[in-house]
Amino acid sequence: MGKKKIGLIGGGQIGGNLALLCVQKDLGDVVLYDIPAAEGLVKGKALDINQLAAVDGYAARVKGTTDWKDVAGSDVVIITAGVPRKPGMSREDLLETNLKIMKDVAGNVKTHCPGAFVINVANPLDAMVYALHKITGFPRTHVVGMAGVLDTARFKCFVAEALRCSPRDVQALVLGGHGDDMVPLLKSATVGGAPLTGLLAKDKLDAIVDRTRKGGAELVELYKTGSAYFAPAASAIAMAEAYVQDSKRILPAAALLEGQYGIRGFFIGAPVRIGAGGVEEVLELQLDAHEKAELEKSFASVKKTVDAVKL
Ligand code: APR
Repeated sequence: MGKKKIGLIGGGQIGGNLALLCVQKDLGDVVLYDIPAAEGLVKGKALDINQLAAVDGYAARVKGTTDWKDVAGSDVVIITAGVPRKPGMSREDLLETNLKIMKDVAGNVKTHCPGAFVINVANPLDAMVYALHKITGFPRTHVVGMAGVLDTARFKCFVAEALRCSPRDVQALVLGGHGDDMVPLLKSATVGGAPLTGLLAKDKLDAIVDRTRKGGAELVELYKTGSAYFAPAASAIAMAEAYVQDSKRILPAAALLEGQYGIRGFFIGAPVRIGAGGVEEVLELQLDAHEKAELEKSFASVKKTVDAVKL
């Protein structure tokens, strides 16, 4: 089996970290694409990472480019093209600007990378992946949005901090849209096999849920000039890795729902199984009345943004 080709669209903060992780995990050879104005940026990052590969002896290589022909035939495409938030902005405020960029990118992905497993990271996440799917016409198995892995990582991180334990031993899940009303599931979360709800008081749990929901904004306020990039990159790589390695991981991701959770025709975060077939299955969890109501609220927000998407 030959090496995989990973096309990274957008060579900014997340794009650069994606390239680094692809090389460090030997996921495949990387093409880091950006617009002509950013040619130096992507060529510089590629050169820098290839020199890092020489330090540690990694086999994968990175090519920086502004030519879609170099991206052609990628097995996996990860899209981070788009502007990030600035303090005070919501993800929805990015819709107009990032939709224009998505129209350009999705059209090129359709032309140059048929058959690719495409992961979108650009915000507003659930609306951008919806547009990506509509424009490419790719099967629902091969178009997915990265948000749930990141939101769940934030949830696990805060639980682990509160309990002073390793985040590895926290099992948890965040459902719904990648917005302030996402749904961190408390009742089913466990730590080392024990229910989380028995380990922390309600006010502490509520604070963790609230911080998870505002996890992206917390980083935007700290960075001032942009949004989070290390954890978002790692999260998208976890999904790409599951596809490339056919590992059948169950990961929360924005997938096209076809009736699951009472939702049809929209992308929203749900646990999915990722393997060589892409999004091979969307898992439907049994939710209680409170969780169902929260998911409905989150879906209403997603739908409002998607309704504003004009293609
Ligand atoms: N094609 C390819 N790349 C583009 C295009 C385009 N049409 N338009 C813009 N870009 C590039 C920019 O030149 C920039 O290098 O996308 C890159 C975005 O990088 P950053 O500004 O550093 O943003 P980043 O932090 O990586 O976030 C990217 O992911 O999490 C989301 O909200 C975030 O929407 C934002 C996206």
